[in-house]
Amino acid sequence: MPDAIFAEPRLARIYDAVDDDRSDLDAYLAMADEFSARSVLDIGCGTGTLACLLALRGRDVTGADPAEASLDVARSKPGAGRVRWLHTAAADLPTLRVELAVMTGNVAQVFLTDEDWVAALAAARRTLRPGGRLVFETRDPAREAWRDWDQTRRRLDIPGAGPVETWTELTGVDESLVSFRTTFAFKSDGATLTSDSTLRFRDRDELTSSLTAAGLTIDEVRDAPDRPGLEFVFITRRPFI
Ligand SMILES: C[S@@+](CC[C@H](N)C(=O)[O-])C[C@H]1O[C@@H](n2cnc3c(N)ncnc32)[C@H](O)[C@@H]1O
Repeated sequence: MPDAIFAEPRLARIYDAVDDDRSDLDAYLAMADEFSARSVLDIGCGTGTLACLLALRGRDVTGADPAEASLDVARSKPGAGRVRWLHTAAADLPTLRVELAVMTGNVAQVFLTDEDWVAALAAARRTLRPGGRLVFETRDPAREAWRDWDQTRRRLDIPGAGPVETWTELTGVDESLVSFRTTFAFKSDGATLTSDSTLRFRDRDELTSSLTAAGLTIDEVRDAPDRPGLEFVFITRRPFI
């Protein structure tokens, strides 16, 4: 079950305004070019920003997400008509033959248990043609990004929604699991909505062994150019044999 921030329609509709700096996606657009990927699957595509940008650049694009409310936002964007949208969790993806599958926005961290992660990787592998790549990012646990998440209060004026105050509180750190609550106070009608999230932080060794066990080879681990030193960006590949 996706978090309310993705699955609750009123929150999904303001997601892009709250998270409005998408310079993180530039690296993925560049990698689609670098790998000459004609077909791209965006796993956990959310509100579909990357999927639509890739489709407008002439790629054959599929966007998949279990949050229908986020897909509804995605379907309204320029280029959305050229994207095939799948309402599905990663583990239930159909077999495809894409050249590139991506997970942006730290989607890899939503898989909390080993079983969920293994199932997601197995399904992602099945979506790739032999030689196809799975590229994803995940935060380096050593950088303890959650230390900056508490009490960041912002007031935004969002077209269609009006003024919204939003803040995040850290609610728990339990080994590799970090939980937090984000609150959205809509000033137009006084409604206050909350979204509770938990993310799993896997270290590089754990990621390497799980990818290898899933039958994916690791070509490279890069930095995220917009978040230097904070993320692992894994470039993996389904082998030809
Ligand atoms: C932080 S958002 C990132 C969305 C998008 N990739 C982006 O960069 O804007 C995480 C996304 O993961 C999706 N998600 C949650 N559980 C999932 C699952 N089991 N399989 C695939 N996606 C999932 C959520 O619905 C949400 O859209």
